[in-house]
Amino acid sequence: MKQLVLGIETSCDETAASVVADGREVLSNVIASQIDLHRLYGGVVPEIASRKHVEAIIPVIDRAMQEANVTYEDLSAIAVTQGPGLVGSLLVGLSAAKALAYAKRIPLIGVNHIEGHIYANFLAHRAVEPPLVCLTVSGGHTDLLHIPAVGSYTVLGRTRDDAAGEAFDKVGRVLGLPYPAGPQIDALAVRGDPNAYPLPRALAEGLDFSFSGLKTAAINMLHNLRQRGEEIDIADFAASLQEAIVDVLVAKTMQAATELDVSVIIMSGGVAANTRLRTKFTELTQQAGIRFFYPPVELCTDNAAMIASAGYFRWARGERAELDLDAVPGLRLAQRQG
Ligand code: KG4
Ligand code: ZN
Repeated sequence: MKQLVLGIETSCDETAASVVADGREVLSNVIASQIDLHRLYGGVVPEIASRKHVEAIIPVIDRAMQEANVTYEDLSAIAVTQGPGLVGSLLVGLSAAKALAYAKRIPLIGVNHIEGHIYANFLAHRAVEPPLVCLTVSGGHTDLLHIPAVGSYTVLGRTRDDAAGEAFDKVGRVLGLPYPAGPQIDALAVRGDPNAYPLPRALAEGLDFSFSGLKTAAINMLHNLRQRGEEIDIADFAASLQEAIVDVLVAKTMQAATELDVSVIIMSGGVAANTRLRTKFTELTQQAGIRFFYPPVELCTDNAAMIASAGYFRWARGERAELDLDAVPGLRLAQRQG
């Protein structure tokens, strides 16, 4: 019999619920996005996010159950994002998950959001097996992880300041693009020259990342060009910014795979939807004889299928959360190596 897990995700600005069978088969994947609302303010407003989650959570869960054509009696577990994320947003998903778990007597599993992003790859590709190196890049995170076995994580490097997605979004805002700017920069860059505007490659020490220097350099360059009355080619600028971010992400991930002698690389998080990042990784991993996987776009950005999948593997290992499970905004996935 298939083991069904209901996943619930509300860590940022997407209210999401999904039913997944045996950790790999998506039966439903419902996402209510608040992006249009936050776009008015140029970024996520936490208070508004919490309120919208409260409105959306029950209908979203109901729809996920209906589309999967299952009842609560069919569920083996309910998996919910515990952190990292906005505390008010996390609490909405957690409260719903705990209430359902208690009322229907279903085991509860707490999932780390970043762990969820990793499992998007397990949902999309059966061939993904550790040991591997994983690059998780989103609006809030840039983490390079070593995953020697399922459920075991070591942080090899992370950003010391801004996340890669933040660099896309904040520079994009100055370019006049709506939030989130990442997808638009991706689309514009296709017809731009990546060498048109010289931007720095921030190579922080070891396998760590740093994007605030690039962000500031790009924003200063835009201000200076505007002050001098020079015309800015938006496609060229998008391509130059994208190339500077992609170069560093790919170089450090390849370096990690080489140092650890690992032959599988996976990528996850919203920025993993970036076309240039995918192409460059594909080229370099092919040359190096490394297998490379990434999820389809709908599983790259925030969703609950990835939470249900990660939750299934925790459930299968016998893990259970108590009903006092709390939101942890700064939840860490793993300790740093060394
Ligand atoms: O994983 P996600 O949905 O939410 C977080 O957990 O942060 O990631 C959202 C981030 C945003 O910064 C967005 O601009 C970026 O992912 N993003 C992209 C692309 N699609 C989404 N960045 C570059 N290229 C894309 N195609
Ligand atoms: Zn995310």
